[in-house]
Amino acid sequence: MERKSIHGQWSTRLAFILAATGSAVGLGNIWKFPYITGENGGGAFVLVYILCVACIGLPIMISEILIGRRGRQNPMDSMGSLARDDGRSVHWQWVGLVGVCAGFLILSFYSVIAGWAVAYFFRAAGGLFHGVTAESSKQIFAGLTGDPERVIAWHSAFMAMTMFVTARGVQGGLEQAAKIMMPALFMILLLMVGYGLHSGDAERAFRFLFQPDFHRLTGAGVLEAMGQAFFSLSLGMGAIMIYGSYLPGDVSIARSALVVAVSDTAVALLAGLAIFPIVFSNHLQVGSGPGLIFVTLPIAFGQMPYGRVFGALFFLLLVFAAWTSAISLMEPPVTWLVERHRISRFRATMLTGGITWLLGLGTVFSFNIWSGATLWHMTLFDGIDSLTSNVMLPLGGFAMSVFAAWVMARSSSSGELRTSPGVYRLWRFLARFVAPVAVAVVFLNAIGVIRFS
Ligand code: PHE
Repeated sequence: MERKSIHGQWSTRLAFILAATGSAVGLGNIWKFPYITGENGGGAFVLVYILCVACIGLPIMISEILIGRRGRQNPMDSMGSLARDDGRSVHWQWVGLVGVCAGFLILSFYSVIAGWAVAYFFRAAGGLFHGVTAESSKQIFAGLTGDPERVIAWHSAFMAMTMFVTARGVQGGLEQAAKIMMPALFMILLLMVGYGLHSGDAERAFRFLFQPDFHRLTGAGVLEAMGQAFFSLSLGMGAIMIYGSYLPGDVSIARSALVVAVSDTAVALLAGLAIFPIVFSNHLQVGSGPGLIFVTLPIAFGQMPYGRVFGALFFLLLVFAAWTSAISLMEPPVTWLVERHRISRFRATMLTGGITWLLGLGTVFSFNIWSGATLWHMTLFDGIDSLTSNVMLPLGGFAMSVFAAWVMARSSSSGELRTSPGVYRLWRFLARFVAPVAVAVVFLNAIGVIRFS
């Protein structure tokens, strides 16, 4: 009883891989990975991150795609239908609904940061960074983030770009965007890495990224590495699940997931290799937080030959990466609205875009008029970011993995995965034991219920 998605399907396996990699590769790789690696001391954090991707991320990604392709609906109804198929409690559907909510929340801040990137693209292209110093670069950044009106304008522009693609549907929108932007993104990234390694302090960057020093890693850092694995691979909220629901039946899930996870990790490391050599050779601070690439890189672009071109290309790279991810954040709520509330894709897109745009104002104001309003030292933006990355995504991923590997009947999961017995057993072992236990341990450790470090 093969189901069909009412939204259509990817035209080829490559289209799925590009779209899923487009979802995975985003601000998480180019903006967040470098700055949290900087804040957490480098090598040891990177190593834990890679371990999390391999042992937790990959099996959960396979679980999500599997659930999506078998359910062929929005995350909530896919999980509900599969539970019903195998005679399990339909309450599993709430996991999918939490994912849909996480989509709203993440997209709300994602669009604001992506809006900064769009603004920076125009600034770089317009030559604004020519000759900037550390001080003036900070001022340019503060001038943007501190001005709610300007940020709202860029946030609106980015949200409109995202809605434009989503409204056009799976093959006409999502697939086209990935096919055009992903190859461009890889080319620009390689160019940037070449530049960084050639003219920055490549040796120090390699040491920083790949020489682990475990004294510099805390329990909270381990949780952050795991949260980052979820965030970067787009796991735990149904984005990969909904992309899986458009996957043709004859494509290998395990192999595709492997390609996506490896590409995503490669892009994060390459982004590190593009950025840190420049940061080190200009004696900039690695631990400066969310402003890292926005404050430090323009200084370098302002001094280097062809800096205007490289600067514009870099921020274009960031915009493309964010754009293909934002459409995947929008997809679960949109399909949920279309299927549950029987409205057109266009209306669902408008509604999702409108609500997330409004929520996004919270992030906009976190950097200016509400910057003093903190709870446990966190602004509203910090709060939404850590609630989603460090709590909702790991718990969502935990539940999806338990669902696919414990709750679904063996015949259903193996019937959908259609892989060799060895690969099936390996996936099931990782998804049954390793991923859920690891998520639980890291999580309980970080909230202080158990203590390892
Ligand atoms: N993976 C995206 C990134 O790294 C963010 C994202 C998270 C997208 C969750 C979809 C779902 O930027």
